[in-house]
Amino acid sequence: MQALSSTEKNIELNIESIRNEFPILTQKVNGKSLVYLDNGATSQKPKQVIESLVNYYSTYNSNIHRGVHSLSQKATDAYEQARNTIQKYINANNSCEVIFTKGATEGINLVAQSFTQHNLKIGDEVLITAMEHHANIVPWQMVCEKTGAKLVVAPINKNGELIFDELKKLLNKNTKIVSVAHVSNALGTINPIKEIITLAHQCGAKVLVDGCQAVQHMAVDVQDLNCDFYCFSGHKIFGPTGIGVLYGKEVELNNLPPYQGGGDMIKTVTFEKTTYNELPFKFEAGTPPIAEAIGLGAAINYINEIGINAIEKYEHQLLNYATKKISEIENVKIIGEAKNKAAVLSFVVKGIHPYDIGMILDKQGVAVRTGHHCAQPVMDFYEIPGTVRASFAFYNTFAEIDFFIEALKKAIKMLS
Ligand code: ALA
Repeated sequence: MQALSSTEKNIELNIESIRNEFPILTQKVNGKSLVYLDNGATSQKPKQVIESLVNYYSTYNSNIHRGVHSLSQKATDAYEQARNTIQKYINANNSCEVIFTKGATEGINLVAQSFTQHNLKIGDEVLITAMEHHANIVPWQMVCEKTGAKLVVAPINKNGELIFDELKKLLNKNTKIVSVAHVSNALGTINPIKEIITLAHQCGAKVLVDGCQAVQHMAVDVQDLNCDFYCFSGHKIFGPTGIGVLYGKEVELNNLPPYQGGGDMIKTVTFEKTTYNELPFKFEAGTPPIAEAIGLGAAINYINEIGINAIEKYEHQLLNYATKKISEIENVKIIGEAKNKAAVLSFVVKGIHPYDIGMILDKQGVAVRTGHHCAQPVMDFYEIPGTVRASFAFYNTFAEIDFFIEALKKAIKMLS
């Protein structure tokens, strides 16, 4: 890897020692040092997370909430400890408000399916925004189709910002739920969710926040936000795949019917009637992803050691630096120029398909994502087939950005 630049030596984080904790970062790809800038798709895992999985499987692998034997109790304790760690990280009032899911997509589907059973009918409205990921569009389309409710979309401007006044106008007494990204995965825009939540509540609507691209970049306090639901995926926050979190206010979760039936979510079962378990188990049917939940707890402990505020500050510097550098390249246009952005840099190059840029960058060891980023309506809005997206994490360096910029210049030269 390239030496750290002088800028890196002035910041609060010890990037060199942080990078040593991510084994994958030291490898070569296509004969070149890996420059991993696809953190929006999935983040890399520190040793602490990998070791927590190895430790679980090699010393106390067992099912939870079921056995009286020692291994089962140890696994149950570790799983519930992970829930407590997450409760504290997002400042939930109670650990029963933290539901383990398999990812943010499942969290959104859970709310969409369970909420609609008693709360949506013809004439009701679900409000989303024009910058949502498909996972925050399609589940709502499905329930609107089923119930006859209407899906309403708040528009964005050319900078990729939500047009707040339009959103305000669209909120009305028929709006039953607002589902909005905290941070756009395709544009990096940070939405003013606290204001949206306040407005939505004034109309009597509930709010679900898709925090998939936010929790790894900034402090999230669900009580301060006053959101009804908040979801995210573990693998984007340095944890394993197959695990996610749905936070819900206790009162809201108690009002929802279960999402799936099976073991652990019941209190009593007869052929005539089943009664349901209390929170959070009511929403965790079947054997959950035990190792993955423990791994996610380890990831959050790791972030806590570094400090999410220091992470946010450093990533902001990375984003500003990369934005300035890329703006100097002819024929490059940044897609997503909101004033308030997280560490996502999407762009297009005039006359060159994003996929071709991605391929040539890969040959130079630089991993970026290309395409529509599961946000086709965003691409339609900009009338483009897709973008190249560099998304940063706190283990990225300014030297990597320099390397990426030079690699991009080479790619543009080759493809022009
Ligand atoms: N939603 C993920 C992304 O933005 C996969 O790349």
